[in-house]
Amino acid sequence: MSNTKFPDGFMWGGATAANQFEGGYNLGGKGLACADLFTGGTHTEPRRITAKLEESTFYPSHEAVDFYHHYKEDIRLMAEAGFKVFRMSINWTRIFPTGKEAEPNEEGLQFYEDVFNELKKYQIEPLVTIAHFDIPLALTNEVNGWASRDLIDYYLHFCEVIFKRYKHLVKHWLTFNEINTSTMEIGNYLSLGIRHAEGDFLHQKDDPTVRYQALHHQFVASAKAVKLGHSINPDFMIGCMIAYMPRYPRTCEPSDVLLAKQTEAMHSHFCGDVHVKGYYPFYANTYFKDNGITIEFAPEDEQVLREGTVDFYTFSYYLTLCASNDPAYKNSGKSVIGGAENPYLKTNDWGMQTDPVGLRIALNDLYTRYNIPLMVVENGLGAFDKLEDDGTINDPYRIDYFKEHILQMHKAIQDGVDLIGFTIWGCIDLVSASTGEMAKRYGIIYVDKYDDGTGDYSRKKKASYYWYKDVISSNGENGLEE
Ligand code: BG6
Repeated sequence: MSNTKFPDGFMWGGATAANQFEGGYNLGGKGLACADLFTGGTHTEPRRITAKLEESTFYPSHEAVDFYHHYKEDIRLMAEAGFKVFRMSINWTRIFPTGKEAEPNEEGLQFYEDVFNELKKYQIEPLVTIAHFDIPLALTNEVNGWASRDLIDYYLHFCEVIFKRYKHLVKHWLTFNEINTSTMEIGNYLSLGIRHAEGDFLHQKDDPTVRYQALHHQFVASAKAVKLGHSINPDFMIGCMIAYMPRYPRTCEPSDVLLAKQTEAMHSHFCGDVHVKGYYPFYANTYFKDNGITIEFAPEDEQVLREGTVDFYTFSYYLTLCASNDPAYKNSGKSVIGGAENPYLKTNDWGMQTDPVGLRIALNDLYTRYNIPLMVVENGLGAFDKLEDDGTINDPYRIDYFKEHILQMHKAIQDGVDLIGFTIWGCIDLVSASTGEMAKRYGIIYVDKYDDGTGDYSRKKKASYYWYKDVISSNGENGLEE
């Protein structure tokens, strides 16, 4: 018997997000979301945000890979691979087209009910992200997205409707995807729906006070959603989702170590600390004071945060970062997140430095810090895949990537970490969030869709599909040989 068997009941599966996967952006009564105004980009040229829909512009998420019409086929493929869990998000504007309606859009509600019933047919658990980079455009245009406290009530109304409607179909929920994205400029439009300017989405005009205030509104909304969810169904498991990026010091020079710890605290730990512990950590308050940022708390907010802590902690894991004070290295990293390059790691075609051992370190650190169940809900390799003439897709690089990361998860479990599941990102090829490309493929299932908008949406299993299926059916006993 192999020694890489995972615990019984381990939740293997895949993950997606509505705005990158579903398409049907104007079907079934759906309203416009911020994500619908993202143009395509390339790995060297960032995507843009347009002020309104432009006729001659191509918006890759509008059709995405058309899960909207392919959900039965997609779920059958997931079932055949043995998925135990499927992470997906609910498009807010499918339920509330402008975010402000008193009554939900029945057609939207029915669509997700059909999806959940299809999953149930194959005993696949849905793991639902309530907000995955998805904000009704009307709320951005009228009140500047999460910068306004009004968003808390709109969001809770959305939560109440979906919690009640799906209370017997969905048990696991995540309140916000990668909420800590908003500790960086990139979060302004993407995660908060804050509109400062059109144009390049990576480098928007930034007001940190507005950004952190908006993030505070999301913390309060999340805490209220946890409490509300538990009152609707006490069996709900409601978690947070963090883009977890460990920071290493580039050298053991103490000031590099300090810089690594400080940046890791604010960018990777701050949001998890608020979600899990229920209060702002001291270092965040110091950071705000040092940077002239004042967060307005309503009188009840402290109590709301304390009473709405999450049941489990989930995170995405793609890369680690390095911190350096040395001008020669400081900004030598090639990913959109920046930092210094790590000379010991491989870099993918999009500048991300992949680091399997870093995942074991992350799991140990997070479990030490929080002591609640953990789940890796995104991990994967964006790569240029080649569709061969005979219709096969051979992606040994992806198999190697997953093998290395899964082995480190297994080691972390042996270390004593309570890791309950793993969902690979973009299990079926989808639109990249940062670049808008189709060419950056993560899936174990190939979709015939390309950056110029062509393609017939047909699905094909990649070599990694068969490999992952073997891993799942043996619960880790097969496919992980070192
Ligand atoms: C995470 C997001 O940041 O990483 C996903 O939750 C995203 O939405 C994924 O797609 C991979 O990033 P990208 O930019 O390669 O699509």
